[in-house]
Amino acid sequence: MLQIITTRVKMQQIAVDLKAQGKSLGFVPTMGALHNGHLSLISRSIAENDVTVCSIFVNPTQFNDPADLDKYPRPIEADIEKLKSANCDYLFLPSVDEMYTKGETWHLELGYLETILEGAFRPGHYQGVTQIVKKLFDIVQPTRAYFGQKDYQQIMVILKMVEMFNIPVTIIRCPTVREEEGLAMSSRNVHLKEKEPQTALKLSEALAFIKSKTGKGSLPEVLKEAKDLINEAQIGLEYLVITDGATLKEISEWGQSAEPVALIAAKVGNTRLIDNMVLV
Ligand code: PAJ
Repeated sequence: MLQIITTRVKMQQIAVDLKAQGKSLGFVPTMGALHNGHLSLISRSIAENDVTVCSIFVNPTQFNDPADLDKYPRPIEADIEKLKSANCDYLFLPSVDEMYTKGETWHLELGYLETILEGAFRPGHYQGVTQIVKKLFDIVQPTRAYFGQKDYQQIMVILKMVEMFNIPVTIIRCPTVREEEGLAMSSRNVHLKEKEPQTALKLSEALAFIKSKTGKGSLPEVLKEAKDLINEAQIGLEYLVITDGATLKEISEWGQSAEPVALIAAKVGNTRLIDNMVLV
């Protein structure tokens, strides 16, 4: 039976009691508008832990664009039904006031990770992400926490934070769940209108194209062809890069990385989408 908890104190008390009973606690932090990507994380947590907590909190501090925060989908009743069907044990559903005190500031030195890709295109985004995930970890005290590879750089940021604070949690990276035709599932996909869902397929197509050419021929040429694929469509490309998966440093030859990953961010109409693909 799903239990819905809205206060920090209650959620933390439950976590402390469960841990005292020797139970393992799996945690899936989300911003809601749940789709099969989120639900795959929840299933994995249920399979690997005694108790699973999902949080839904549309975190204002990680939105660099106020319009994006305003229009972020919040279908809470449908989300609750999905969590019940998934057999999730707890939903932590706090208000903004419950999570933040007034005038609160936060800065975590993330170094290089914050100067590139999402860090560069969304100033302050990872400050907000680390701020809320640290608070959530302090409350839920998970044994394991589940994150999607869809947000590749986010996982690296979380791993860095966990190391910096020496947080006793294991971070589990889960594969990206896609629509049948390839589009990575995202809460923002509901904003895609008319022909845009079709256009958005170009992102995963470009990544799949790069993957099919990995290790063959010149990397810069493969990248250029992939960019041409994007630019032919009505897509505002922000970045498409091939990097080393462990450092996110761009590579210019295939031999430079044992686990290269291609990452893309682009605007389809007014909707900003990100995706990535590990190339081996
Ligand atoms: P949100 O975008 O709701 O995503 C919650 C979790 O679901 C993240 O770990 C994300 O990577 C994962 N996820 C999203 N789409 C996925 C897909 N198609 N396949 C697999 N996993 C997917 O990421 C956030 O929220 C926030 O930044 C958060 C970590 C909750 C902090 O506010």
